[in-house]
Amino acid sequence: MSKLAPKGAQISVLFSAETLARRVQALAREIVAAMGPEPLVIPILKGSFIFAADLLRAIHDAGGEPDMDFISLSSYGKGTQSLGEVRIVRDTEADIAGRDVLIVDDILESGRTLAYAKDLMAARRARSVRTCVLLNKPGQLAVPLTPHFTGFICPDRFVVGYGMDIAHAYRQLPFVGAVEH
Ligand code: IMP
Ligand code: MG
Repeated sequence: MSKLAPKGAQISVLFSAETLARRVQALAREIVAAMGPEPLVIPILKGSFIFAADLLRAIHDAGGEPDMDFISLSSYGKGTQSLGEVRIVRDTEADIAGRDVLIVDDILESGRTLAYAKDLMAARRARSVRTCVLLNKPGQLAVPLTPHFTGFICPDRFVVGYGMDIAHAYRQLPFVGAVEH
């Protein structure tokens, strides 16, 4: 049994699996309409991996033929407080120059993670860089950034599930929920 994971917490559903699935399909249609059929989709790991997997298939359903690469960024330690400094844990491999890049993240909070990824892709001479987040937690922004595509506005709670974790636990939940204390 994991020593890190606070297993057995009470978690209340904020966004059900059905609600997520419907919104992801709509987001994909928005993305293909705005970006054309061949974006280079770059999810920020780890938290966005389930969202990105669903989004990629929804982009296919919407007529897109996306390419995909991954970047792993960290701003949090093991806890629930952002450390404020973003670092690359694992970098992309694809040639970014000249591509229309869509950066995908799970949650926008301070905006530092997304701003870092956006600046990085711009510095690598992407033709355009757009951003997509499943959840936007308003009121916490520390840098000026408005995502091009947003799934839902999220209450200012610590959320888990659908890829998102607390100390590496609960990524497997098919819904997004808030941890109750
Ligand atoms: P930011 O850099 O402050 O915008 O933080 C965004 C990153 O923090 C996201 O990529 C998430 O991985 C993580 N994060 C922020 N809030 C939560 C949460 O409520 N649950 C899980 N991860 C979160
Ligand atoms: Mg993250």
